Amino acid sequence: MNRTENEMTDLFAEKAQDWDVNDVVKGISRGIRAALDEHVELDPALHVMDFGAGTGLVTQHLVDKVGRVTAVDVSAAMLAKLIEKPELAGKVESFCQDIIEAPLDSKFDLIVSAMAMHHVRDTDKLVQRFAEHLEPGGRVALADLDTEDGRFHPEDTEGVFHTGFDRGAFAALLEKHGFVDVKLVTAHTAQKEDRRYPIFLALARRA
Ligand SMILES: C[S@@+](CC[C@H](N)C(=O)[O-])C[C@H]1O[C@@H](n2cnc3c(N)ncnc32)[C@H](O)[C@@H]1O
Repeated sequence: MNRTENEMTDLFAEKAQDWDVNDVVKGISRGIRAALDEHVELDPALHVMDFGAGTGLVTQHLVDKVGRVTAVDVSAAMLAKLIEKPELAGKVESFCQDIIEAPLDSKFDLIVSAMAMHHVRDTDKLVQRFAEHLEPGGRVALADLDTEDGRFHPEDTEGVFHTGFDRGAFAALLEKHGFVDVKLVTAHTAQKEDRRYPIFLALARRA
């Protein structure tokens, strides 16, 4: 695992311990993986970045369907769980770094992300970085919450910068950074404490 010099407080250190057995996480991940299957063509030639890969729930799903997966996350604890999965051993490269501050040297054919973007303060810069990390014609498939009332996370949860995203504004942001064929579909609707939280999958291609 590579790390930036600028290591941060690991906000997912505790959550990492039982992330994969959390029923809400499992339900959301299952829904997003099904949406990826439905909307994203995968093939063994692709080099894929899983942005905010966490413990690797999406990476696991993709790893045998594409050529290479690179998992990126700022939580060493989450990535440690990914790295210890025997089914991922030797198949996935991981980077514990913030690509906004320290971009990777590689370019990708596809960037996927599940429920990570609302943890990144500067969405504009993040989408710019996605564009910069893609080969011409490369695609994104980005899943996150639709605008919600702030109750998805417990009050005062650290590191939550967005209460979801407006689909129109997110599509405009992708277009601003040179993406075309922008389409947002509903990937899943999460159920948490009797409330429903729709999750979009944003699909687009770098021109
Ligand atoms: C809600 S979890 C989702 C993890 C995984 N994608 C999944 O679906 O199970 C959000 C993840 O985003 C990561 N994250 C937060 N800020 C990040 C950043 N600036 N760069 C990369 N990952 C980040 C967190 O460390 C965490 O692992």
